Amino acid sequence: MKSKIIVIEGLDGSGKATQAKILTDALAAKGVPVRKLEFPDYKSPASAPVRMYLGGEFGSAPEDVNAYAASAFYAVDRIASYLSSWKLDYEQGAVLISDRYATSNIIYQMPKLSDGERDAYISWQSDFEYDKLGLPKPDAVIYLDVAPEVSQRLMERRYGGDNSKKDLHESNLRFLLSCRRAAVYAAERCGWHVIDCCRDGDIRPVEEIARDIEKVVTSILC
Ligand SMILES: Nc1ncnc2c1ncn2[C@@H]1O[C@H](COP(=O)(O)OP(=O)(O)OP(=O)(O)O)[C@@H](O)[C@H]1O
Ligand SMILES: [Mg+2]
Repeated sequence: MKSKIIVIEGLDGSGKATQAKILTDALAAKGVPVRKLEFPDYKSPASAPVRMYLGGEFGSAPEDVNAYAASAFYAVDRIASYLSSWKLDYEQGAVLISDRYATSNIIYQMPKLSDGERDAYISWQSDFEYDKLGLPKPDAVIYLDVAPEVSQRLMERRYGGDNSKKDLHESNLRFLLSCRRAAVYAAERCGWHVIDCCRDGDIRPVEEIARDIEKVVTSILC
């Protein structure tokens, strides 16, 4: 089988980790050589600039670091992970399920630019990470669309109501709303698969969303 990179994208608390695990387990149960990845790789020293940025060491607002500089921080984390951890799996034909990927830069950094600069940013991101750094391109991007008001509630449950545990992006609802707008634009522009994860102002059941994802993935792997 030819290797594949399937990215699960979405805003903070949209269910990426939950769905990436279900999908990875389902593929493994079918005998597919599969491995789950997660970005940023906070355990790696290569994520230090990302941790500094999200921890507010360069300023308390996301805009205190410009889109291109912050994108470079995240790109370092990804290429280091590729070179040190999963390059061989990729070369040997594994299916990689990635909880976030280079596409997260488009969601979180593009909103810092004007609408007129968006297409140039998308082209730069692709050229920089895939063509110049040599990170493999994703074969499919599945975007879990969750209204930030809903995902904030899910995160609050996870953090036990302690808002101080939220990072620079997570704590800024206005910024997350602009990230959702960026994601919707990129999904259309870059051909991402959009899964509408909400119904009647709440998140749909985990299993229902998992079935939608499996349908997309089956069409990609066949
Ligand atoms: N469909 C769902 N229904 C109810 N709760 C959910 C659903 N999906 C995920 N959750 C819960 O919401 C929280 C956030 O989910 P998860 O950690 O999977 O999201 P994430 O997108 O990986 O978040 P982050 O971006 O912060 O890493 C978790 O506590 C998870 O158990
Ligand atoms: Mg997660």
